[in-house]
Amino acid sequence: MVSEEIRKKFLDFFIHRDHKLVGSYSLVPSDPSVLLTSAGMQQFKAYYTDGVDADKDFGSRNVVSVQKCFRTSDIDEVGDETHLTFFEMLGNFSFGGYFKKEAIKLAHEFITQTLGLKIDYVTIFGGDEDVPEDEESREIWRAIDPGMKVIGAGRKDNFWGPTGSEGPCGPTTEIYVNGVEVWNLVFNEFYLRPDGKLERLESPGVDTGCGLERLTAVMDGSGHIFETDIFGETVEKIKELKPDLEEKVVRIFADHLRACCFLIADGIRPANKEAGYILRRLIRKLIAYELKFDFHTSSLTEVPAIIVRKFQDIYPELDENQITEVLDEERTKFKTAISRGLKELADCQRLTAAEAFHLYETYGLPFDLIKEMAPSDLGQNLSYKDFENEFGKHQEVSRAGVERKFGGHGLLLDTGELKATDEQELRRVTRLHTATHLMQAALKKVLGDKIEQRGSDITTERTRFDFLFDRKLTDDEIRQVEDLVNDVIQRDLPVNFEEMPLEQAKETGALYFFKGKYPPVVKVYYVGSSIKNAFSKELCGGPHAERTGEMGKFRIRQQKAVAEGVRRIKADLEEL
Ligand code: SER
Repeated sequence: MVSEEIRKKFLDFFIHRDHKLVGSYSLVPSDPSVLLTSAGMQQFKAYYTDGVDADKDFGSRNVVSVQKCFRTSDIDEVGDETHLTFFEMLGNFSFGGYFKKEAIKLAHEFITQTLGLKIDYVTIFGGDEDVPEDEESREIWRAIDPGMKVIGAGRKDNFWGPTGSEGPCGPTTEIYVNGVEVWNLVFNEFYLRPDGKLERLESPGVDTGCGLERLTAVMDGSGHIFETDIFGETVEKIKELKPDLEEKVVRIFADHLRACCFLIADGIRPANKEAGYILRRLIRKLIAYELKFDFHTSSLTEVPAIIVRKFQDIYPELDENQITEVLDEERTKFKTAISRGLKELADCQRLTAAEAFHLYETYGLPFDLIKEMAPSDLGQNLSYKDFENEFGKHQEVSRAGVERKFGGHGLLLDTGELKATDEQELRRVTRLHTATHLMQAALKKVLGDKIEQRGSDITTERTRFDFLFDRKLTDDEIRQVEDLVNDVIQRDLPVNFEEMPLEQAKETGALYFFKGKYPPVVKVYYVGSSIKNAFSKELCGGPHAERTGEMGKFRIRQQKAVAEGVRRIKADLEEL
């Protein structure tokens, strides 16, 4: 197995040259500036800048690792010969131990002698208005090999980092073998400050990264990551399941499934934001492929078994049952919605960013899926930036409700149920909205399940709630309802939502209007730490308070009959 040999040779090479071995960090990063670990240096960031003592922590200033990485930025390139979302990065690092000369020498020795490869050429930082050319690296390369082709390149290609708005960064030198960029050596000489200025680091450091998959492809002569032993069996299995599949689809399938396995193994679960959303996006794409190419339904489980077998010795956190469970659950949840979405997409005559966003909102189709699966060439002109704009608009709106109106009456929020003209009003109606959910749940607990919402109206001052009930509430019942709501407020419970298909949402026991018209994918807002044990859950578009603790004291102010069998309660919140 070429990849296993390389992994071992790399580690041995550096361990024998005074480096301490450090295990891969989780894909869930310690660095809050990134959603997922995307480079080997991330777990070591503090050693470049904060004066944290590497010697004390590792027994050496030089370390070596093979780090699990995930790069969302490469997601659209997956399917070619060299790009992946998840990959393993070989890296050696020095925190004030050695610098350019040793780092370049070590890399050169490993590539040319240990692996016996020939370097085509290397690149160095060619300089710009802020930082001069990295002449030192040029000279070091020339001293090692006078015939070496050294190319100067700009900041985009040969200056690393930082991740986020500040951090260590510096010029890089990159090594190309058989036309493939295989190794990136970063010389962290600077610290980028939040104001955009570069400061020289007191003790410069080295951070190198070499993709195991690419190096394997170069070593085994294929020049193609999906033809290496890393993907061999996975690709074979996919082709066996569907022999006529387009090559690109096979590769995307293989990459995404492998990435899902590793993300799940590190504790990430499908969700609507952050890392959970990245996972969800990958899984939805797999489901769409299953649907589009009519895969056997077990393919989402047969292939991971192979992936787990291949990597389990090195990454024992990979657990086949757990992976299958997460994939299956997501598939059960979304298959119908995605299938409907794909149908609507197939019938599209035109496809603007707004229409793409509608498909995302209604059926959960991720952007890249829409772009890829759009009929004829409708997806070609669809830009992610425009889609993001729609998304951004929507986020403001969903924070603020369903519709944001400008000019006219200057409404910031108008959902029909809630209206607000400024931020302060928005906060008030939002809290009263959450209070209305809590009140309905409390009324059911006190008066029984037969009570049923008939209508509600929320102003900045109070909430008004109409429900089926055939008599006056006693003082004691009123107090019980108030106490239940105030108890939840005092416990400062989180308010969250989960998006899911309508049928499934109903099955959670969430409250909804029987006569209501709902899209195929809905939000279930719930109060409590999980949807299962929630105090209140309702199908609802929001917005809501983030936590109950911010709501103030709940009081019922009035009750009366508004029609035969229908009672009306008015309640408010005393500001904290
Ligand atoms: N941080 C650099 C990279 O990820 C080198 O490790 O490419």
